[in-house]
Amino acid sequence: MSGHSPPTPMTSHRCGPLSGRADVPGDKSISHRSLILGALCVGETVITGLLEGEDVLDTAKAMRAFGAEVTCDPEGMWHVRGVGVGGFAEPSQVVDCGNSGTGVRLIMGAMATSPITATFTGDDSLNKRPMERITDPLTLFGARAVGRTGGRLPMTIVGATSPVPVRYEVPVPSAQVKSAVLFAGLNAPGQTIVVEREATRDHTERMLAGFGADITSEETSEGRIITLTGQPELTPQSIVVPRDPSSAAFPVCAALIVPGSDVLVPNIGLNPTRAGLFTTLREMGADLTYENMREEGGEPVADLRARFSPDLVGVEVPPERAASMIDEYPVLSVVAAFARGETVMRGVKELRVKESDRIDAMAEGLRAGGVEVEDGPDWWIVTGLGHGNVPGGQICVSHLDHRIAMSFIVMGMATNEPVSVDDASPIATSFPIFEGLMARLGADIRRS
Ligand code: S3P
Repeated sequence: MSGHSPPTPMTSHRCGPLSGRADVPGDKSISHRSLILGALCVGETVITGLLEGEDVLDTAKAMRAFGAEVTCDPEGMWHVRGVGVGGFAEPSQVVDCGNSGTGVRLIMGAMATSPITATFTGDDSLNKRPMERITDPLTLFGARAVGRTGGRLPMTIVGATSPVPVRYEVPVPSAQVKSAVLFAGLNAPGQTIVVEREATRDHTERMLAGFGADITSEETSEGRIITLTGQPELTPQSIVVPRDPSSAAFPVCAALIVPGSDVLVPNIGLNPTRAGLFTTLREMGADLTYENMREEGGEPVADLRARFSPDLVGVEVPPERAASMIDEYPVLSVVAAFARGETVMRGVKELRVKESDRIDAMAEGLRAGGVEVEDGPDWWIVTGLGHGNVPGGQICVSHLDHRIAMSFIVMGMATNEPVSVDDASPIATSFPIFEGLMARLGADIRRS
């Protein structure tokens, strides 16, 4: 939320073996989409396993501002009584999406083809992030957007009164852009078509189909072509949110670098559009196995078992894998520091426009901890020192970025000297139970 929580400095000390079971929270991407799609149905959607992180709670609040009834029952199940496609009410206040790029971008899409006006804002991180990637396609539907210089929040979207469907080729690999266009297309008559050259996470397509929309996806030489027929009547659903592979990344990577560790991270979705980190770690020689492989709700799911891996080696991550692990590069760079040789990451310029410039933020903290990092506009290379040789001892700046904070806390579990972050409070946006969960596995994390 844009009213800042007080900074929470945190220090991670080298620890003994991590062991046990890590029940990570629900998937952030699917949680946002569950609330928004629930709000776009007439009737009640019930959600089990919703991530109750600040980002998603801000989206719940926003859905209430647009007229949906959103409640949580004593058993922790969430209920959304929606208003139907095209039924959004006009919020009476500015909609504050806190730290969440996914929240604000998807909601802008969902309201842009209704005849209402809404003003959006966020925290200092979100208000720096580019929104033109969203407003460019939304104006094609007939919406108007007025924001700060450079297309930044706070920004007002005037929804289209007579929306037209669009064909849009997504210029950057972004599931948020794709999803905003599809959500806008819901209230435009006729077919909205999205073309994506590089496949990004496909939760929106899968969930729209699950809610009863007429949506098809076709792989062609141009890329993936997604066609949505507008103005469907969506049917409320009962949703079980799978656990988040992007959160699972933290206990998994910690187990790989802390001697003697053996950690089980159950029920993790291995949708190929999300699982790139795990493939990369295995290529680096990680002792990471998939147990109890199964299908749940049409998605591959497994229990991940990660054990200490003393002989990790650097790899070149194929650029075409970037979209499937875009949120995991920060913690991968930490594992790379404990591997031998170079880990080369190319085709990742999107990392520069996340909650922070994640290449700069990680490079700065890794260098301060004795690790060599080279970087350019869309690439970076971490030269690993091998297990037992990473000095640490630095204080890192988290830049209001949850994944930067968690990555450095993981690093400190295996460096020779402790690693501190100036502010760990952003962790609550996506993984509010991180500190307790890691401590139960055996991490030595102190508030300092
Ligand atoms: C997300 C898409 C990704 C990712 C973000 C969640 C989503 O962003 O980084 O954390 O839920 O659609 P981009 O679409 O900007 O790559």
